[in-house]
Amino acid sequence: MARILTGIQSSGRPHLGNILGAILPAIELSKNPQNESFFFIADLHSLTTLKNGKERAEYVRAIAATWLAFGFDYKKNVFWRQSRVQEHTELAWYLNCFTPFPMLANATSFKEKSEKLADVNAGLFTYPVLQAADILLYNANIIPVGKDQKQHLEMSKDIASRFNQLAGEDILTLPEPQIDERIMTIPGVDGQKMSKSYHNYIDIFLPENELKKVTKKIVSDSTPLEEPKDPDNDITFKLYSLLASASEVEAMRQNYLNGGYGYGHAKQALFELMLEKFAEPRRIFNYYMENNDELEGILAEGEIKARAVAQQTIDKVRSVLGFSS
Ligand code: TYM
Repeated sequence: MARILTGIQSSGRPHLGNILGAILPAIELSKNPQNESFFFIADLHSLTTLKNGKERAEYVRAIAATWLAFGFDYKKNVFWRQSRVQEHTELAWYLNCFTPFPMLANATSFKEKSEKLADVNAGLFTYPVLQAADILLYNANIIPVGKDQKQHLEMSKDIASRFNQLAGEDILTLPEPQIDERIMTIPGVDGQKMSKSYHNYIDIFLPENELKKVTKKIVSDSTPLEEPKDPDNDITFKLYSLLASASEVEAMRQNYLNGGYGYGHAKQALFELMLEKFAEPRRIFNYYMENNDELEGILAEGEIKARAVAQQTIDKVRSVLGFSS
């Protein structure tokens, strides 16, 4: 049996990159009866960039509703808010003291964020340690994430083995990332990595007219409508091929190569495909966004299950570090 674990930050509403890069692969793994899945909302991590509490609460709901919209079985598995299980922050502190400063200083995500953000706080710096705590607290084996999380996962593994070595016991389980090489990094409407912080994302739960507007913003080159176009260097084609069937992708490829087919047509086809493919998730998402008490009830149930597992690890860690009586 494998234990699967992953988290999404509540720093915005979930976008197509989160859905294709992490949520769908994680749900697929969770369907294997041999696996036990731990999926959570990383609301503490979102504090590194988002300070507005009202917005955070709204995004937590949106992320929870997204997991449910894509069919996550919360009864069989474990589903909770990170901040409600205090063992995450406790373990993060212990692990901070086992993490070499240069490991954090050289982290690519920290370097990138500190170049872009005005508020370079200490939370951003120790972000990977809290992430390691999230994973190690639950003895997780497999972590389905997007490619941008590869280095964080290597750090979690390093921190775990350093801890085990210094503690003299194999208390923490070494996790393995699972990154879908076919999906890799989903591009945003401007061609950079789709990201909440770049404001280039596609929110598939938007009302139809707004989703259409966002789809129209996808950047394309200026090849005239009549002329052939290169599908392999086009963002709309890339996004379409991640969602469409093999025969639909082939048909669009031919349209591009033949000419007489404009980027506007491709964007309209992508928009229609999103509406068709996500019709049911959009319905369920809206249901949970309107039925907040039900959503809170589900998270509260999950919190109890998560805490029970987290406490077992924390007890062992406290004991080996001499913090228990
Ligand atoms: P977050 O919210 O930034 O991203 C959540 C997940 O979505 C993936 N992702 C993408 N995948 C493909 N293409 C994209 N454009 C794209 N954008 C985002 C991310 O790789 C991620 O898997 N640090 C984590 C949150 C976290 C976590 C954890 C994950 C906290 N603790 C423990 C796993 C295990 C993050 O980046 O969230």
